[in-house]
Amino acid sequence: MKLFNHLRNLNGTTTHRILRNRFHPLFNNTKFFSDAPFPQQPTTSHVKPPSPPSSLNRNELAKFAAIAESWWDSEGPFKPLHVMNPTRLAFIRSALCRHFKKDPYSAKPLEGLKIVDVGCGGGILSEPLARMGATVTGVDAVEKNIKIARLHADLDPTTSTIEFCCTTAEKLVEEGRKFDAVMALEVIEHVANPSEFCKSLAALTIPDGATVISTINRSMRAYATAIVAAEYILRWLPMGTHEWSSFLTPEELVLILQRAGINVEEMAGFAYNPMTGRWSLSDDISVNFIAMGTKTNNTE
Ligand SMILES: C[S@@+](CC[C@H](N)C(=O)[O-])C[C@H]1O[C@@H](n2cnc3c(N)ncnc32)[C@H](O)[C@@H]1O
Repeated sequence: MKLFNHLRNLNGTTTHRILRNRFHPLFNNTKFFSDAPFPQQPTTSHVKPPSPPSSLNRNELAKFAAIAESWWDSEGPFKPLHVMNPTRLAFIRSALCRHFKKDPYSAKPLEGLKIVDVGCGGGILSEPLARMGATVTGVDAVEKNIKIARLHADLDPTTSTIEFCCTTAEKLVEEGRKFDAVMALEVIEHVANPSEFCKSLAALTIPDGATVISTINRSMRAYATAIVAAEYILRWLPMGTHEWSSFLTPEELVLILQRAGINVEEMAGFAYNPMTGRWSLSDDISVNFIAMGTKTNNTE
């Protein structure tokens, strides 16, 4: 309730048509005690600034390493991601084109954008982003995933240009890498420290760049559908793929992104139609949802 009241006091602007009314109270300029800047570390030339905490959660990574060979099996454990892909790409294309003032109907709507796909797995998202004209870097903490992603992307000249690396967001930050847009789809629920992870995503984003995150809501409905139904009844995913307690509510995600310097501007839910077996964008964020935020200029 306390968090909810905090969120009601937040303010700002959101551009996503679907959730504008529902989310308006979340976006405002009210400052909280926790927004106060942390005391600065002494930075003399001989004192190395401390490395950010690792985002790696070994148990989670082991789950992905065990099924790495099946990334491109559209009937395998990653079937839900393959089926959702066109819908999440539709959100990304329209949100990025709106933000970067590009034509979503052109053949290469993301041309000219440098995008990093953090937690890229086998490259299910990285490949269509490259086909839409973006210069794509895909990173994943599991080496096997990167090998599969490389092999698959090399099958097509358009995707063979993707840079794949076995690394983490925080390592890229240490290397000083920057991108116009940073993607982390279905990753935050598997990392060790979501707030620190978001800070790394923000640090990788250029000022006024975009950050896109999708995940699963920590709701009872998500427990019933994304865990009980998807893992135990329908067997879409291996049992134990998701820990309900690792999910974030949309309000929590908005807040941790805001603290990292990213203002969430658009958000949508994904709705599954059991009759067609397809997903579509919806205003129902009670289970799967996606958010696009922009980096405020004063957080460099
Ligand atoms: C559910 S998959 C999502 C894959 C891809 N983003 C997609 O949506 O198609 C989660 C991926 O995140 C990777 N991952 C988990 N924790 C990570 C971390 N801290 N840094 C980089 N990758 C991570 C896993 O290895 C796995 O490939």
